Amino acid sequence: MNNQLFQPYALSGLSLQNRFVMAPLTRSRTSQPGNIPNALMAEYYHQRSSAGLIIAEATQISLQGQGYANTPGIYTEKHIEGWKLTTQKVHQTSSKIFLQLWHVGRISSSRVNGLQPIAPSPILNEKSQSYIFEKPLGNAVRIPTELPREMTIQDIQQVIFDFKQAASNAIEAGFDGVEIHGAHGYLIDQFLKSETNHRLDAYGGNPENRMRFALEITEAIVSAIGKEKTGIRLSPFTSANDLKNNDIIDTFFKLVEKLNQMGIAYLHLSEPEWEEIEKIDTDFRIKLRNTFRNTIIVTGSKTPEIGAEILKNEYADLIGFGRKFISNPDYPERVKHNNPLQEITDSKTIYGGGLEKGYTDYPKWRE
Ligand SMILES: Cc1cc2nc3c(=O)[nH]c(=O)nc-3n(C[C@H](O)[C@H](O)[C@H](O)COP(=O)(O)O)c2cc1C
Repeated sequence: MNNQLFQPYALSGLSLQNRFVMAPLTRSRTSQPGNIPNALMAEYYHQRSSAGLIIAEATQISLQGQGYANTPGIYTEKHIEGWKLTTQKVHQTSSKIFLQLWHVGRISSSRVNGLQPIAPSPILNEKSQSYIFEKPLGNAVRIPTELPREMTIQDIQQVIFDFKQAASNAIEAGFDGVEIHGAHGYLIDQFLKSETNHRLDAYGGNPENRMRFALEITEAIVSAIGKEKTGIRLSPFTSANDLKNNDIIDTFFKLVEKLNQMGIAYLHLSEPEWEEIEKIDTDFRIKLRNTFRNTIIVTGSKTPEIGAEILKNEYADLIGFGRKFISNPDYPERVKHNNPLQEITDSKTIYGGGLEKGYTDYPKWRE
């Protein structure tokens, strides 16, 4: 296939072999106790290294930041050592790998990590669920999220520090950079959107105050590891985890302007098809391109054809694919040679539920 997706790209000086990005995908395969990344995960990412860039799954920056069972951490020596298995294997190939840094805020339960969730304001989310495993190799069991405690200024400072430390740990573990998870109704998004942020201090109220938390985290990470190693993911259109702020587009563009001034490596837009993506029209894309000068990644129900069209119009530089990479470890190769795609065969194996089953046992084409 003659497609711009196969052209190489320089991401803040990092050479990518093509424009395919493997989007971050939570798979809950860590070793217990301690949520330690392991050799199975290294094998999984290695299998997917025909992507120009891999963004490894959302990874909690602290125990408090965890919202689902068996997701990886990046805040202990064991996490750093565990992740080295993955970065070393991926770097045996031409692929590059960033780590997504995550704090879930209110989307959690003490049944996951033993702690009451924290959030900008004490507002229960009645719609979202978390999950636990009742048996080591069992399937994920959905549980309600809990009423969060309102974060103090000290809590805010602690979380900013934890993000910064997690970024340094990720670099020590061999990642090429980090992606701040500012999307999908998790902690940073909870600060950005007024339904979940009722604060009366410097972190709530007008857009400038609501985006302060995101900016202070980004500044802290940039100061620790460098702007060229720092990306962020945002989802202004998503109502995931019960968020749908009406003035978010205004807040979003104010935030993007500041992120552009900081010169970070990339902005990753999550555009799920089940949301109001009709709002992502040409005007929006052109405005984004003019506001953010560095690399733009877009992800969400993209086909190679749609991706190529976006690249051709220069609305974005890299295209992310999520679910396709679950069941097609060699997705870019299959697209290149026009080989048939494999669908996900057992949805119970998406999160945990049987280690290699539905994880590393999807074959490459005619393997
Ligand atoms: C199983 C699964 C796990 C996901 N985990 C994450 C995650 O850890 N972090 C994140 O930002 N998005 C996550 N997403 C969203 C994906 O990164 C992606 O945006 C979404 O799947 C849409 O892209 P697609 O249509 O190509 O699958 C997840 C999606 C799925 C299906």
